[in-house]
This record gives sequence, structure tokens and C-alpha cells, in this order.
Amino acid sequence: MNSDPVGRGRARQTQVYVRGLGGEKPAVPVAPERLQEAARIHLKAPDFAYLAGGAGAERTLRANLAAFERIQLLPRHLRGQTSRELSIRLLGQTYATPLLLAPLGVLECAHPEADLAVARAAAAEGIPFIYSSQASVPMEDCAAAMGESPRWFQLYWSRDDDLTRSLLRRAETCGAQAIVLTLDTTMLGWRPRDLDLGSLPFMRGRGLAQYLSDPVFRAHLSEPALGPDVTPPRTPALLRVGAELAAKGRTYHLSLEQMRAAVARFTATYTRLDLTWDDLSRLRSWTTLPIVLKGILHPDDAREAAGRGVDALIVSNHGGRQIDGAIGALDALPGVLRAAGDLPVLFDSGVRTGADIVKALALGARAVLLGRPYAYGLAIAGEDGVREVIQNIIADFDLTLGLLGVGRACDLDRSVLAL
Ligand code: FNR
Ligand code: LAC
Repeated sequence: MNSDPVGRGRARQTQVYVRGLGGEKPAVPVAPERLQEAARIHLKAPDFAYLAGGAGAERTLRANLAAFERIQLLPRHLRGQTSRELSIRLLGQTYATPLLLAPLGVLECAHPEADLAVARAAAAEGIPFIYSSQASVPMEDCAAAMGESPRWFQLYWSRDDDLTRSLLRRAETCGAQAIVLTLDTTMLGWRPRDLDLGSLPFMRGRGLAQYLSDPVFRAHLSEPALGPDVTPPRTPALLRVGAELAAKGRTYHLSLEQMRAAVARFTATYTRLDLTWDDLSRLRSWTTLPIVLKGILHPDDAREAAGRGVDALIVSNHGGRQIDGAIGALDALPGVLRAAGDLPVLFDSGVRTGADIVKALALGARAVLLGRPYAYGLAIAGEDGVREVIQNIIADFDLTLGLLGVGRACDLDRSVLAL
């Protein structure tokens, strides 16, 4: 059991309330809606649109939150619970809590330090960080900032298999403990907030750090660019984009022409559309790390995965960014769990509070991914903002667990749910 009898929840509450006596309020709002609103105020419109936006009419985005609203908790009392143990076992490792930071691309939309600030915050809080394929900082830099703290790598399987293998090799060298293959974003969904602003970060060379720092990717940049040859009109705005590309090129020692070629090559090679279940055996042969499939919603896919020797699944609809009208992720969790057999199942999409973590774990998830909220913390206060968001949700989780009369996170089960 946790040797600290106060517990992380009460410790955090006390810290906030004592600071309040001195007139100090948290810089990063605690309530999820106020957190998002504060981030919006800190950001330029296209950057906020990219972070917050969902597909279509954003029905799935809302369904994720609504699914959590429908499930209710049923507390027990007088169980003499004095302390909590939040740690869990997963894929042969012990993690301090059941919380991981989801892979979020283009974190430079939120803050100039982007993934580096998140890496430092995750390490300081002892929370695993899943590096995105679309990161704004190369994985090697994040790994160097994290010491021994756990990290995973999320893969978008490129049309260039050599690049995919190179990314996997780099992730292994960086000490990643698992590879997360994201299945639901073979193409970007139809995202009205971005479309209405005519804004996609990748076209400006943003979110390409893993590629620009990759030897296999870079080897192609002197060749003529692949893919759709769209020549946009020369406007002041476009000249600004050129300046942004040139600035990125300076960081990666690429000319403006090479940066343009990089954007074109990325666009042309993102991602393999012809992948089938049979390709998983190739991925298996390319890495010794556990393989985790992200984006599973259908029980038949869970059953198929269980028969294909993958190591874990993540139930997720990509935060409602891909298919408008797709099932709320929490609603899909029970079916996937039934079909997955002994495979560990993680949960992602819509986690906003400690009670949400309790609900996902009580249904049978082994851990959860936190997404947008930490990007909002990053937008508001950089590394410290991410730390505050992590501290708050873990405090809330710890208190909710204690108030339910549960001593260990790994003991959560359906008995705490009003089903
Ligand atoms: C994402 N997500 C994502 N997933 C992934 O596998 N690779 C990626 O590069 C990204 N990029 C990304 C960028 C942004 C701005 C967002 C909001 C999301 C999806 C992410 O990992 C996770 O599934 C969702 O964020 C979960 O939804 P909520 O809880 O954040 O609403
Ligand atoms: C997104 C991609 C990068 O959701 O996963 O924008």
C-alpha cells in the first residue's frame, strides 16, 4: 500500500487550498471545460481548431463525453480504507498509475517547446509519454529529457516500409517499451474547424519532426517531390508559410526547396492504405517490442487481433477526429473486452476526470490515455501546465477511489458501477 497515508488526492487539494489562503489561484483551471476555454484564449484560432476539433458535426466528440455521463458509480462505505495503491502492471512493466499520455501530433500548435515540455512533465510526474509519429520534436530529444522514465512510440505506417522500419529502430534505441500502431487514421478525417480556416499544420512543415530527423526520409529529399503537384497562388500568406518552412529547414539543415520536398513527400507517403491483418506479421518481425493496436472499436477486430499475436489493444475513436457518428469509445469498451479474451485492453477518448478513469477501469480497461487536457495545460503554462493537469487528474482519481472504498487501482471492477 501507498506509504503516504495522506494520499495524492488530499496532498494536491491541500496544496491548492493553502495557496488559495495567500490569494493564489491555479494558473491552469481544474474543471475540464474551463481548462479548454483557457487554452482557447491562449492560442491562435487555427492552433486551437486543430487541437480541439473533431470530424464532421463533432457528434463522436460529444458521444465520447456522453458515454461517461451515462455510467454511474455506486460507492461502498465503512471498509477501513486508509490508503491507496495506484500502480498497475502492464506488458511486463509496473507503472506508477493507470494513466499514460496519449500520442498527440503537432504539439507546437500548443506551445513552442511542444513535446519536449511534455516529455519533461511526464518524467517529473512518472507518467509514460507515448511519442507521436507526428510529433514536433524528434523522439531522441524527448528521450534524452526523460531519463529512465517510461515512454512508448506511436507509429503511423508509412507507404515507405524502409521509413517505418527506421522509425521502429529509432524507437527501440530511444528505450520505448511498446509500439502503438494507430489503425484509425489512414487518412485524416473531415474536420470542419480546420477546413473553414483553410489550415492544416503539416502543410507548413509542422508535426514532421520524426520525419525531418530520419535518415531514410531525408535521403529522399534531393529527389523530385512525389505526389499531387498543386501550385498554390503566391500570396502574402503563402510567403509567410515559406518563411516558416525556411525556419524549420534551418533547424534540420535543409534548404527551403528540401523543406518543400519534405512536405510533399510526407503528404504522398502518409500512410499505407493497403494494410491488412496479414501485415501485422511483418511488423512483428521488425520489432521485438510489444505491439499495441490503437483504434479498436469493433468486437470482431478485437477477436481478430487476439488471434494475431499482438500484445494489447487500445479502444479509441481518436477523440472523435476521424468518423463523425462513430460510437462513443466508452460504449465500445465492453464489447471489445468480451472479444479480446486475455489481451490487455486500454481505453482512450473522452477521459477528462478521475472518475472517468475509475469508470474505464471498472469496466475492465487496464489503463487509460489522457489526450486533449494535457495539450490544453501545455498551451496555458508549458511544462508546468502539463504537470498540473497530470497532478489534478491523478488527485481526482485517488480521491474517487478512496471515496468508493477501493484500496487498489488494480482491484477496480464492475461492483463499483450502478449497472
Ligand atoms: C491526436 N491523436 C493522435 N493519435 C495518434 O495515434 N497519433 C497522433 O499523432 C495523434 N495526434 C493527435 C493530435 C491531436 C491534436 C489530438 C487532439 C489527437 C489522438 C489521441 O491520441 C487520442 O486518441 C485522442 O486525443 C483522445 O481523445 P481526447 O480524450 O483527447 O478527446
Ligand atoms: C490527428 C493525427 C495527427 O488526429 O493523428 O490530427
